[in-house]
Amino acid sequence: MNDPQFGKDENQEIISLEGSKIKKIKDEVQKNPNQFWSDCAKNLVWFKEWEQVLDWKYPFAKWFRGGKLNAAYNCLDKHLTTNKKNQAAIIWEGEDGKSVTITYSQLFRRVNQLANAFKKMGIEKGDRITIYLPMIPELPISMLACARIGAIHSVIFSGFSSQSIIDRVNDAKSKIIVTADGGYRRGKIVPLKRIVDEAVKHTPSIEKVIVVKRTYEDIITGENDVWYENIVNRESSFCPSEWMESNDPLFILYTSGTTGKPKGVVHGNGGYLTHLYNSAKWVFNFDPTDIFFCTADIGWITGHSYVVYAPLMHGVTEVIYEGAPDFPSPDQYWKIVEKNGVTILYTTPTALRSYMRYGNEIPNSYDLSSLRLLGTVGEPINPEVWKWYFNVIGKNNCPIIDTWWQTETGGIMISMCPGIENIKMKPGSGSFSLPGIEIEIVDDKGSRIKDDKKGYLTIKKPWPGMLLSLWNNNERYKKTYWEKVDNSFFAGDFAYIDKDKYIWILGRADDVLKVSGHRLGTIELESAFVSHPSISEAAVTSRSDEIKGETIIAFLVLKKGIESSQHLSIEVNEYIKRTIGPIASAEKIFFVNKLPKTRSGKIMRRLLKSIVNKETIGDISTLEDEASIEEITHELDAINKQI
Ligand code: PRX
Repeated sequence: MNDPQFGKDENQEIISLEGSKIKKIKDEVQKNPNQFWSDCAKNLVWFKEWEQVLDWKYPFAKWFRGGKLNAAYNCLDKHLTTNKKNQAAIIWEGEDGKSVTITYSQLFRRVNQLANAFKKMGIEKGDRITIYLPMIPELPISMLACARIGAIHSVIFSGFSSQSIIDRVNDAKSKIIVTADGGYRRGKIVPLKRIVDEAVKHTPSIEKVIVVKRTYEDIITGENDVWYENIVNRESSFCPSEWMESNDPLFILYTSGTTGKPKGVVHGNGGYLTHLYNSAKWVFNFDPTDIFFCTADIGWITGHSYVVYAPLMHGVTEVIYEGAPDFPSPDQYWKIVEKNGVTILYTTPTALRSYMRYGNEIPNSYDLSSLRLLGTVGEPINPEVWKWYFNVIGKNNCPIIDTWWQTETGGIMISMCPGIENIKMKPGSGSFSLPGIEIEIVDDKGSRIKDDKKGYLTIKKPWPGMLLSLWNNNERYKKTYWEKVDNSFFAGDFAYIDKDKYIWILGRADDVLKVSGHRLGTIELESAFVSHPSISEAAVTSRSDEIKGETIIAFLVLKKGIESSQHLSIEVNEYIKRTIGPIASAEKIFFVNKLPKTRSGKIMRRLLKSIVNKETIGDISTLEDEASIEEITHELDAINKQI
């Protein structure tokens, strides 16, 4: 294995003692990008080679056009003729301490059986299947079974509510939902099947609900419900792989944007898998002996890309954990690292911040010496947390990769790459973009701005992992990503590049929040608030939070004749949790008489954000009614005094 030696300089930064391959690779991409990406794609197994590396008709890219492959084949079949066959693919750790090991050949059989069962239910290539499961092995198995027969999976995070399921299922017109009777979350049971029962009353496309037994709840089973175990047990353990054209959709994943309606991000097969395989090789430098632990929920993109597809394509052993980091005790990750000899830990700043709060004694009481690489994703990591991760968890020996990317990019775009480069790390910066990825920071007019100045992060060229489009909405795809800056992808983040060319991400530039790393749209939240019978208007913003990064603050205008009260505030929050899901719970709700708006009627969320974060308020000359700002400031002062 390429095992770079790391040393530490006086600034607590790691400097590699080994030479770097990155320059050579980046030169290759510059000289002949098609050859470079073609070599990258050859790391996958293709049934038929592509006719064209990139067919770019702005803003639609077709990577490896004409090539045929199958994602499940690349994750499973290709290992069966090697010594990985009986190696653990997944070590599953339950919240209750139970654990299950599934080898590559066992995983293959289980995926094939379910694929056959789907086929028997009439599912064909291109049909959509919604998956609403907790973090149990049946979740990746269901995704891979879809991939095997060319069905498009649409996974919904199991923390979302009935309404979120309705919106997503109706948009995708899924035929089947795979769910469980219940899921464990912090010792409590989340009644997943009951939530699905509520949803399917309003989802005419659903023909069958497949139910996995996890919590052995007493659930109602209707005529369209089938037990997972009953449909798979009878099936043969081989199902031929569908030959998918490289740009056939592999999945839809709904994510929040700047409107009330979540966007169905569509990823394809060939480009997406090529990006994942190579990014994982460069960033994680996978070795056959690695035990990889990515803590992300599979309901989000990190879970799709780096829990399911990338590690399985590489044939490593991975740990999947069902529960929360701090339940039943604030040591779950450290316990799992010690027990399984985890070598790479890939987690979120939120989880690290919550662990840091409990002090060093807990992680110090575990043997974490198996770790060789530490990663973070999803939000900016504060330098203090970075240093804690480096010193206390990595014992000054493990490089930290701070990986920036998005649901839309499919895979990692900015990160140090211990597989190919060795650089000086700067806590808080992801460092540089991956080979072939061209990042530019631009101003309001789309012009490149000088280093060291804050601007919008854009991507200059198409890349293999990029989304194909938005489900049934090419117009919105064009408008959201490709029309804000000419000839570039607009990522929606603020960033700057320092004098050493390191990229620093400064957070979202739009109305998207990151609460504990979960992506939520302010307008989506506002629509949910105003659907409550007592609310006439809503404005949502966020306050910085030591643990969660950001928390939701809502300003609500009540309908005429409705009195504000503590009771109503609780009721409205419960309503939001029911409508969107527990992750949308507001930290504070303020009832106000008016919202600050521009003369054209737009809510000034940024102004509200400044108020709640006690920052200086900028120009308010465009305000419709300055009194409302005073009112809100006044109310906030009063409330802050009470805390
Ligand atoms: O704002 C950036 C933040 O997460 C957003 C993408 O969210 P999502 O699509 O849910 O994907 C998250 C996991 C890839 C980005 O626009 N973000 C992601 N990674 C980082 C980050 N912010 C700072 N540093 C990161 N490493």
